[in-house]
Amino acid sequence: MPPSSSPARYFLVFLGMFGSMLMSSGLPAISATEIGAKVGIRRTLMDNGLGLTPQMGWNSWNHFHCDINETLIKETADAVVSTGLAAVGYTYINLDDCWGELNRDSLGNLVPKGSTFPSGMKALADYVHSKGLKLGIYSDAGTQTCSQTMPGSLGHEEQDAKTFASWGVDYLKYDNCENTGASPKERYPKMSKALMESGRPIFFSLCEWGQEDPATWAPSIANSWRTTGDIEDNWDSMTGIADQNDQWASYAQPGAWNDPDMLEVGNGGMTTEEYRCHFSIWALAKAPLLIGCDVTSIDNVTFQLLSNTEVIDVNQDKLGVQGKKVKKDGDLEVWAGPLTNNRVAVVLWNRGSSSANITASWSDVGFKPSTAVDARDLWAHSWARADEDEISAQVDSHACKMYTLEPHKNSSAFNKNW
Ligand code: GAL
Repeated sequence: MPPSSSPARYFLVFLGMFGSMLMSSGLPAISATEIGAKVGIRRTLMDNGLGLTPQMGWNSWNHFHCDINETLIKETADAVVSTGLAAVGYTYINLDDCWGELNRDSLGNLVPKGSTFPSGMKALADYVHSKGLKLGIYSDAGTQTCSQTMPGSLGHEEQDAKTFASWGVDYLKYDNCENTGASPKERYPKMSKALMESGRPIFFSLCEWGQEDPATWAPSIANSWRTTGDIEDNWDSMTGIADQNDQWASYAQPGAWNDPDMLEVGNGGMTTEEYRCHFSIWALAKAPLLIGCDVTSIDNVTFQLLSNTEVIDVNQDKLGVQGKKVKKDGDLEVWAGPLTNNRVAVVLWNRGSSSANITASWSDVGFKPSTAVDARDLWAHSWARADEDEISAQVDSHACKMYTLEPHKNSSAFNKNW
């Protein structure tokens, strides 16, 4: 295959096309310089081969906080399988804070809390693995974790990484409390190296809350990095976090993702339509899809939201380009991003207080004028009508529509000014 037609070249050309077309929207788009930077970052990605698409799974924090134990984790793993969530891609079962004793043992090792994890972490990992799932654990790049109920890993990186590997842990979320004031840029690479040398592939989820713009330095040391403070289970928090995360879109790539925090879907603080927006935007933005509700008692509405494979497919699309806000008219927004096979994913998002018509024109999403497309409504699971140069819909207050647009095979969909 000649160099000019290699898959990598097509990938970059596609990025360039999409970027130059979005620039006309007046909102930040993928620039040629950023594409160049991407190539540079791509060469120095954390080299563990993990996270080629955003991680999917469950985490204990948003619903259970410190109230966790091994029975809950095992029942959660059981439920992830029995409900069918595992079958649609949810794989990691992640412990958050509060799984350990306050003090290390006489050899300096972390110790699972005897009262809540009496069988130990190796047994728990074995159980989770027996279900075809993976186990995640939590520590902190400081002297104590945020709950202050267990030690952090600062100064113990190699020992703790080896401990996690010996237990069969597959994922580490690494928090930022009690951090002695040293820069995360000094503290996090130590754990990254320790994980790489632990003898086991361990996904590295960096959690310094976006304090030192981790998108600009974390791709080389982590598989994902938090871009914001903690999400709360309400509309204002969710929408604010979506916007904060959006500014870093151009840094996301296979193996390295922006993390706007875990899902609140199913925790009760938002309406079904608000949760639908939350899930749609997280999927489009290539965010980790980490369920944060109690899946052992999941209701059908929540299950339908979290298990929509057409929306999950957008998140897990191999192109790995983060969709972004491409148009804003007051509270009416269009978010879009490119997918494999020349397709584009689009969310029409009404953040206002009354129902309104929202239009995404082809110039907003990167198509040439008069491009004929097949429009798939990912929530109605049906084909939708798209006009010659746009798709539009009436969207209720605090609701959204989500589509993929696929140009007809015989149309030259994109402006080829590259
Ligand atoms: C926060 C973190 C949360 C959760 C919590 C545990 O710093 O952002 O996601 O892990 O600590 O204490």
